[in-house]
Amino acid sequence: ARHRAIEAAPADSLARLSLQAAGCRDCALAGPATRTVFGEGPSDARLMIVGEQPGDREDLAGRPFVGPAGQLLDRVLAEAGIDRSGTYVTNAVKHFKYRPVGKTRLHARPDAAEIRACWPWLDAEIRLVDPEFIVCLGATATGALLGGKAGVHQNRGRWLTRAGRQVLVTVHPAWLLRLPDSHAARERAAFAADLSRVANALA
Ligand code: URA
Repeated sequence: ARHRAIEAAPADSLARLSLQAAGCRDCALAGPATRTVFGEGPSDARLMIVGEQPGDREDLAGRPFVGPAGQLLDRVLAEAGIDRSGTYVTNAVKHFKYRPVGKTRLHARPDAAEIRACWPWLDAEIRLVDPEFIVCLGATATGALLGGKAGVHQNRGRWLTRAGRQVLVTVHPAWLLRLPDSHAARERAAFAADLSRVANALA
């Protein structure tokens, strides 16, 4: 149904695409989630950052990467000298998938079918923004952009070419937040080094 809607109203702008996505019911995640969380940022951004899916805070706020993982991302971007406001930030899946446990909504990983169902939105964002550089944060974004079997650790930290764009894979900031203290500083530094590589490419 969504594909027909896109054809009926050509998505010639991000605003229109976002309105269309707000009504998407093409997978089962739309029911329990509060709203579609679409990407945000300038339509002429040179850099697109792709995460997994909105979390609890994003689902409530209606904006990507505003919770704890987003705050860490913001800090490391700023350290690397990348201006988030000049960047288009989005997710591979646009509804929050969770498991209710008491009053909390625990993050649940989107499965391959959900990632596939949401791909037309990310694909359309990429076409409209037409970024030179795309950063994949974590396994879900990496699978969506590079194919299901592509892993983070085999591919991270170097520029790959996909459909004429430069793609860099790195870890997800939410993963950094879950690491034990013994690993946290080292992995955060490696994440910062990956984002410095992105800053160099933009310079
Ligand atoms: N994690 C993501 O992958 N995306 C968000 O928007 C927030 C947390």
